[in-house]
Amino acid sequence: MLRNRKTITILALLIFTAAGNIATKPPGDEKESYKNLKVLAKDISEDDMERIMYRINKDLGVTCLHCHIPGKDTTELRVDFASDEKKEKRVARDMLKMTMKLNKKYFNTIIDKKITVQPTIWCRTCHRGFPRPNRR
Ligand code: HEC
Ligand code: HEC
Repeated sequence: MLRNRKTITILALLIFTAAGNIATKPPGDEKESYKNLKVLAKDISEDDMERIMYRINKDLGVTCLHCHIPGKDTTELRVDFASDEKKEKRVARDMLKMTMKLNKKYFNTIIDKKITVQPTIWCRTCHRGFPRPNRR
């Protein structure tokens, strides 16, 4: 009898927790939309964004936290990707602009804002796997 009651209490707790999780999830959360894009296309897909960002990591030999800061609100995102607090991110944005311009002006390669065209030069051309190409 006591055993059964315990089981019921645990079950009830589990259901309660699950319901709570569903209730706290904001509606329309499925489709990601980015908050602070100034160079890349605002309607860029998650796949395109990941492809671009992971390539930057590789080309510079860094991780995401080289440019992005951990989220301050621990109940929200673990990384605050939208924040421009780190200087490296602000420089990287200019580098993105510069690199797109170099392709267009000097190599006649028009880069779209989702970087689906293969660029003639990209971060790796100068960085070669280092965060600062001129100070190894
Ligand atoms: C060298 C710097 C750098 C690194 C490393 C980097 N990012 Fe970014 N990230 C940027 C810049 C710059 C932007 C803003 C681009 C713009 O303004 O169009 C950005 C934007 C983003 C955004 C959009 C945020 C928003 O809501 O506006 C996401 C998501 C993101 N990065 C994820 C990642 C992930 C995941 C990684 C690691 C795989 C990563 N980034 C590594 C520089 C970086
Ligand atoms: C034409 C060569 C060139 C290209 C292309 C290039 N960079 Fe750079 N980048 C540099 C140089 C040189 C520096 C160092 C500038 C300095 O020391 O002030 C630098 C510095 C940086 C820094 C600052 C590092 C720090 O610790 O202060 C970031 C971030 C960066 N680049 C990101 C990128 C990204 C992302 C791309 C591709 C979208 C890119 N760069 C493409 C030449 C380039």
